[in-house]
Order: sequence, then structure tokens, then C-alpha cells
Amino acid sequence: MSLTRRQFTITSTGAITLTVLGCGKQPDVPMADDMSTGDNNGEKREKNPDPPTEPFTVGPPDQYATANVYTQLNESKRVWLISDGTELYALADLCTHSGCGVKFKEDTWQFECPCHESSFTTDGANLPGGKAERALERWAVEIIETDTGPQIQVDPTTPLRKEFGEWDDPDAAVPLT
Ligand code: FES
Repeated sequence: MSLTRRQFTITSTGAITLTVLGCGKQPDVPMADDMSTGDNNGEKREKNPDPPTEPFTVGPPDQYATANVYTQLNESKRVWLISDGTELYALADLCTHSGCGVKFKEDTWQFECPCHESSFTTDGANLPGGKAERALERWAVEIIETDTGPQIQVDPTTPLRKEFGEWDDPDAAVPLT
């Protein structure tokens, strides 16, 4: 499924989220094992690998010319690659509440956290109603030259935070044209 600029606008606004009031039996912040393998409202969570600690390439820019949320490296690299057709940015798959992996929901075009039901737009902004109080982090991206041509490189050692104005940094996105 492709994502047009108009769809980006639509999915970046409004959200219905559920807030579960504490019953005193469960801690707000789960233990590490619970975050990765537990079960929440019937949705089984897979064990997430640790995020990468070194830069990695994700393919040539023209591979992402179609606007979309690219999910192919989510399981191996803990990253979501978002293209609007003209530029690409990388969202870290780490909920900013307690670090759970977030899931991309094609029906709502949102990222949702299975641990405590925080949700995020496709640009990474946190939506009201969840426990995450800030946006997902982006990882710095750049285009590097390789033997096989230009490649997009994602650097997980350089997180960029919206609240610090870092999403406006030159390395927050790469041009695709
Ligand atoms: S880890 Fe708690 S809402 Fe995501």
C-alpha cells in the first residue's frame, strides 16, 4: 500500500486511544522480560532484538521513491523507514515510555505500543492518551557512496529528538530525488 502526501496529513491528526486505569495489580513499568514477551489484551508480543549499535545501510534512495512506511528492517534493525516520496527518515522502534517495540497498524496508519497503549503518528509524534510523553526518536540518516552506488545509511548512535528541535537537523532526513 502506498502512502500519499494527503494520507500523511490525515494520519498525522486525530487518534482514538485507550487509557487503562491502574488497578493496583500491575506495575506501570514492566520488567524487561514482560516488555518483550508478555501478553497484553490478547496481543502476543514477540521478543525484540536489541537495537543496533553501529550504522547500517538500507539500500539506494530510489528504492524508497514510493511514499510508504517501509517495514522490512523492523525485526532485524528495530527501525521503521518512512518515505513521503521526496525524502526519507528513520524512526527508532523504541517506545519512549519504557522502550517496548511499537507496531505499525495499517488500518489506522499509526504506530501503537502493545505495552501500555501509547500511539504515534507516522512522523513519530506521540498522540494523547498514552503513557509516552514524547515522540519516537529518529535516527540520523545520510547518503553514502559505495562500490554499488549511493546507499542510505542509518546511524542509531545519533538519535534525534523532536522536543530538542533535532528533527530539523540536516541529518534528520535524506532527499530521494
Ligand atoms: S513502553 Fe509503555 S507505552 Fe510503550
